[in-house]
Amino acid sequence: MAKRIDVKDLNVYYGSFKAVEDVTMTVEPRSVTAFIGPSGCGKSTFLRTLNRMHEVIPGGRVEGSVRLDDEDLYAPGIDPVGVRRTVGMVFQRPNPFPTMSVGDNVAAGLRLNGVKNKKLIAETAEQSLRRANLWNEVKDRLGKPGAGLSGGQQQRLCIARAIAVSPQVLLMDEPCSALDPISTLAIEDLITELKSQYTIVIVTHNMQQAARVSDRTAFFNLAATGKPGRLIEMDDTPKIFSNPTERATEDYISGRFG
Ligand SMILES: Nc1ncnc2c1ncn2[C@@H]1O[C@H](COP(=O)(O)OP(=O)(O)OP(=O)(O)O)[C@@H](O)[C@H]1O
Ligand SMILES: [Mg+2]
Repeated sequence: MAKRIDVKDLNVYYGSFKAVEDVTMTVEPRSVTAFIGPSGCGKSTFLRTLNRMHEVIPGGRVEGSVRLDDEDLYAPGIDPVGVRRTVGMVFQRPNPFPTMSVGDNVAAGLRLNGVKNKKLIAETAEQSLRRANLWNEVKDRLGKPGAGLSGGQQQRLCIARAIAVSPQVLLMDEPCSALDPISTLAIEDLITELKSQYTIVIVTHNMQQAARVSDRTAFFNLAATGKPGRLIEMDDTPKIFSNPTERATEDYISGRFG
């Protein structure tokens, strides 16, 4: 059976700087995969190659292959906009459309996809905001600018915006980093709920979160500053947290370095 995501021998560059080296991994459909590892090891960089967002950065390029349901995402003729529609993303820094209202932020993707039915748009927006645990805080200010929300609210707004279009694959880069414990648990519940239909990859620095929500965990590490990040080990999450194969993984998850 085709893997949902199948990455082979991937190198990722910023100009001449190789940020990520030699990643090979597969991700099953209807699963949650956590990416963990120290700051700067290339988790965000690698994540962005999975929906062709890396190349929007000047000098950004990749070598190797990324296949989604057996289709090469980097083959000539593949439309990156279509890829990004199928593979949604929540960025590490919340990036609501600043001049757009809260409601329009959530509806933006639907409108882009050609949905015109106002009632459907409003219902989907409400449902997405509820699932992102933001509805109660914004239901009376849907017409106000998205940029007027707090950092944690903006993060949840971006989660609502991403799930509103029901992407097949959802990439979430530290989606809970600015959230209080209640919203964090709500987002973890959302991830678990979405897993029955979609495929989710989440970057997190929170080990408990990785252990709670993910089926598989990938540990990335950096040999030294200025060297590319590498995938050290990927396995079932309970195995990574109880009995990892690599010493570096063990040191990282137990808080020992060097
Ligand atoms: N736009 C960019 N231009 C050049 N180098 C970059 C750019 N973004 C990231 N890098 C470099 O690529 C490497 C990987 O960065 P990346 O942001 O992917 O790490 P990360 O694992 O997500 O870290 P964190 O946990 O802090 O978010 C780092 O050396 C970083 O300095
Ligand atoms: Mg990052």
